[in-house]
Amino acid sequence: TLKLTEFVTVSDLASMMDVPVTQVIATCMSIGLMVSINMRLDAETIDMVAEEFGYKTDFVSAEVVEAVAQDEEVDLEEDLITRPPIVTVMGHVDHGKTSLLDRLRNTNVIEGEAGGITQHIGAYSIRLQDGKRITFLDTPGHEAFTAMRARGAKVTDIAIIIVAADDDVMPQTKEAINHAAAAGVPMVFAINKIDKPSANPDRIREQLAAMNYLVEEWGGKYQCQEISAKQGININELLEKVLLEAELLELKANPKRRSVGSVIESSLDKGRGYVATVLVQNGTLRHGDVVLAGTHYGRVKAMFNERNQKVEQAGPSTPVLILGLDGAPTAGETFNVMDTEQEARAIASKREQLKREQDTRTKKGLTLDELARRR
Ligand code: GTP
Ligand code: MG
Repeated sequence: TLKLTEFVTVSDLASMMDVPVTQVIATCMSIGLMVSINMRLDAETIDMVAEEFGYKTDFVSAEVVEAVAQDEEVDLEEDLITRPPIVTVMGHVDHGKTSLLDRLRNTNVIEGEAGGITQHIGAYSIRLQDGKRITFLDTPGHEAFTAMRARGAKVTDIAIIIVAADDDVMPQTKEAINHAAAAGVPMVFAINKIDKPSANPDRIREQLAAMNYLVEEWGGKYQCQEISAKQGININELLEKVLLEAELLELKANPKRRSVGSVIESSLDKGRGYVATVLVQNGTLRHGDVVLAGTHYGRVKAMFNERNQKVEQAGPSTPVLILGLDGAPTAGETFNVMDTEQEARAIASKREQLKREQDTRTKKGLTLDELARRR
């Protein structure tokens, strides 16, 4: 068993396991993660890599996390409700991620919903005709996307892997597939750009089959939908398949418990101070709650949905923009609701201290953001 802190780097991990650092890097690559020696790994990745080398992990900075974990509430069966799936669109450059996400945000908002989606907060929730909801992560540009993904993107329930029918299954397509597979996230394939004369969806199905991803229409288990994001063809059919996948997952959450979730993005806004988009994964986040996110904390002063409407609370699978944190937490970090600001401050500063110590140890450590930017 390895005793670890949350902030272990690739080389730290290698020396703890007494294996060459190149082997750790290779293992990371095999799960679709490009890492450098001084890069810190998230807990999930550390677990995966350690297991690969026959180690169990025990996170000691759990001391810090423990304080949070102590309020682990037990969910009563009767309190559990079905929550909407949280979906990410992944794929190679130019294969149509943005077009699909734009199409979804513009067309599938239920008729008459005031205003439509007006602000970009990195995630949005769409409501379908039958009242079912799907939450899409919509991280801007592919850098932020890579960074989120590299952080483990544990927030995703289902991945839509988009492949352009006039192209091939490309390196980034494979990377996306490998990453989703490693994380145990079910995939729905979207073969895009079928409106193009040069489109050849069968070629894509063939290339997927060659990777051992046999699609349903060929007798396999993977759902696949031909679409045109640009022309809006078969978008509902794709969403139906996503919902079908979601049903199989039986996604449940307890809206009565204290909220936990993930940070999607954050920034410093001139007028409003630090703003952070968070995705509530369990519980209900309320105006006035004390939120602890990574090394930052604060009382929620206001919350807004993606339609820029003020909301008082946000239930499971709902993304909201919150005001009131004392800094900008990193995308991918977890947030918890704490009892008191004192408690939140204590843990935040403990984490800050831990991070500083780790930073001095690995002076030239690349952050994931930097790494993503270099790509
Ligand atoms: P990156 O963010 O750069 O990785 O690209 P992306 O995956 O977001 O692709 P994007 O949506 O920007 O689409 C790339 C190009 O393909 C754009 O010129 C789109 O207009 C075009 N495109 C996307 N979907 C379709 C489609 O269904 N049919 C056609 N004909 N063109 C499409
Ligand atoms: Mg894009």
